[in-house]
Amino acid sequence: MHFYVMTLFPELIEKGMHTGVLYKAMEAGILSLETFHIRDYTIEKHKRVDDYTYGGGAGMLIQAQPVYDTYQAVLERIRCPEGKKPRVVYATPQGSVFDQAKAEELAKEEELIFLCGHYEGIDERVLEEIVTDNISIGDYVLTGGELPALVMMDAVSRLIPGVLNNDESATTESFNDGLLEYPQYTRPEEWRGKKVPEILLSGHHGNVEKWRLEQSIERTRERRPDLYEKYMELHPPVPEKKKRRKKKKTTEPVVIQNGADEGET
Ligand code: ADE
Repeated sequence: MHFYVMTLFPELIEKGMHTGVLYKAMEAGILSLETFHIRDYTIEKHKRVDDYTYGGGAGMLIQAQPVYDTYQAVLERIRCPEGKKPRVVYATPQGSVFDQAKAEELAKEEELIFLCGHYEGIDERVLEEIVTDNISIGDYVLTGGELPALVMMDAVSRLIPGVLNNDESATTESFNDGLLEYPQYTRPEEWRGKKVPEILLSGHHGNVEKWRLEQSIERTRERRPDLYEKYMELHPPVPEKKKRRKKKKTTEPVVIQNGADEGET
């Protein structure tokens, strides 16, 4: 996966990506990152990239020209097949909310371009021209798109084969099957009077799996009723088989009563 990030704060992106497993994956050539400083592409002599908004209103807007020229510089670095438009993700609170499904979808791409805004945003005309995906990381407003871009790159990267080692990827992470992850414990067996649930020490694989699923479902119900509802729609509880009631054997002949004699005085 090749990441290209258009930003006014390239050092923030580079620092964020140069840690832990992501850094290792970059060293191994599984991931790559190139940042493009939008300010390097302005034609304004004082290197300004922003201006007042037409129609008034507070704050400044990033102009179309430096963003578009940065994008052209990125395109020169990408060997995109003829006719294929590269995926350009604009980090914006006005986008659809990022989730695991979106991360999985983006992880299928060979390369991803991120556009990070600042100030009050970016001139709409260049967004219309280059952006393919408007994505928010949640319903709150940050000062810029760098942290959201890092969040998205992290979530996408860990889905790329080879980024996580086998032990890590083998664990059942939250959001598998739409459920939150079950609680986990490591040594010691008892800590501050709290014991590891007995079942996890039993060595009975089937029972452990059953317990974990129950815990996942319960945790999801408590903490994320929205996900719980979706899960229950997809996995409706199996109705218990009705026990067939045996007909009482009667030796008495059935007397068919005439309704007329009921309640009559
Ligand atoms: N830029 C500012 N706030 C943001 C958010 N919540 N998600 C994505 N980009 C943003």
